[in-house]
Amino acid sequence: MVRERVVVVMAFAVATLATSLLPPLACQAAPAPCERPTRGHHQYRQPVGVRRIVVDASGGGDFLSIQQAVNSVPENNTVRVIMQINAGSYIEKVVVPATKPYITFQGAGRDVTVVEWHDRASDRGPDGQQLRTYNTASVTVLSNYFTAKNISFKNTAPAPMPGMQGWQAVAFRISGDKAFFFGCGFYGAQDTLCDDAGRHYFRDCYIEGSIDFVFGNGRSLYKDCELHSTAQRFGSVAAQGRHDPCERTGFAFVNCRVTGTGRLYVGRAMGQYSRIVYAYTYFDSVIAPGGWDDWDHASNKSMTAFFGMYRNWGPGADAVHGVPWARELDYFAARPFLGKSFVNGFHWLTPDV
Ligand SMILES: *[C@@H]1O[C@H](CO)[C@@H](O)[C@H](O)[C@H]1NC(C)=O
Ligand SMILES: *[C@@H]1O[C@H](CO)[C@@H](O)[C@H](O)[C@H]1NC(C)=O
Ligand SMILES: *[C@@H]1O[C@H](CO)[C@@H](O)[C@H](O)[C@H]1NC(C)=O
Repeated sequence: MVRERVVVVMAFAVATLATSLLPPLACQAAPAPCERPTRGHHQYRQPVGVRRIVVDASGGGDFLSIQQAVNSVPENNTVRVIMQINAGSYIEKVVVPATKPYITFQGAGRDVTVVEWHDRASDRGPDGQQLRTYNTASVTVLSNYFTAKNISFKNTAPAPMPGMQGWQAVAFRISGDKAFFFGCGFYGAQDTLCDDAGRHYFRDCYIEGSIDFVFGNGRSLYKDCELHSTAQRFGSVAAQGRHDPCERTGFAFVNCRVTGTGRLYVGRAMGQYSRIVYAYTYFDSVIAPGGWDDWDHASNKSMTAFFGMYRNWGPGADAVHGVPWARELDYFAARPFLGKSFVNGFHWLTPDV
């Protein structure tokens, strides 16, 4: 929170300048030109081969646990390591370190291969300190070129009642760049999926939770996914953390479904320049009046956040237009968010992932 406050003060100066020159919501219009990454930044460094290992909780494979299999991968790994994770419940907390790129978790189906743990933000770690949200993830991936297919990730800590503190409980955290998720399930309540940093592509995934159940400062495309709320009174789907107008981060939900119980905000301005777009998405009749939340009113994030919609549908689709600072985009404005190019996917979403 301390860091957040510093950012808010800096952003206020930027926002004042920008809003005196430009219409509100012109958040892409940075006062100074943004630095572009140097050439080569997007280069896909291909793995040099494939290795397959089998994880089986009942003893029929090379490893009994997923962490054991991850531990067997050498540092500075250069081959695509496909871990076939057989049907079963893997009750363990898993970390894939940053030094181990190119790991694939291949489950046997998201209903039958499940990794689960149950840490909450207020639980104490080995050092006696509270874990805090980011360290609660049942599975944490810090490495680049990670892939998961046909597997579910759960945090089984009980859901908080409204107003309870310290019950954030992350099921999965992705902090590595160029990650691909296909046919995966993410199950939790508050803060299920920590889409922390890097470029990510989620395809055909199911994500369940109650409050801010997709959150972080990743640059991610969610395509053909279901976002399912279990909120009892108020809940929220996405909280995006972009805090600088030059950051290219944001969440794009394309051809998704928003279902479950509500009332539900579809997006919240976690960062001053939070960026969330829904396109071609179905909204069930669970949307809260207003549809979007500016997080705390005091920091005026409604003036700098970019909350866009494009050709959504369903009984809740009108409610998503409930505040003037969330707007229907035209095709030109929506286009950057609609496809793999939003995450530079043509460079790294190769057939081998
Ligand atoms: C991995 O690479 C880093 C950076 O190049 C190097 O410092 C480290 O010693 C390497 N580790 C191993 C086990 O080779
Ligand atoms: C996922 O599992 C289903 C069956 O549960 C199977 O038909 C499909 O081919 C699998 N896909 C991948 C990418 O593993
Ligand atoms: C928010 O806007 C109000 C009214 O324009 C202003 O008084 C206040 O200082 C602003 N707060 C921040 C943190 O920018």
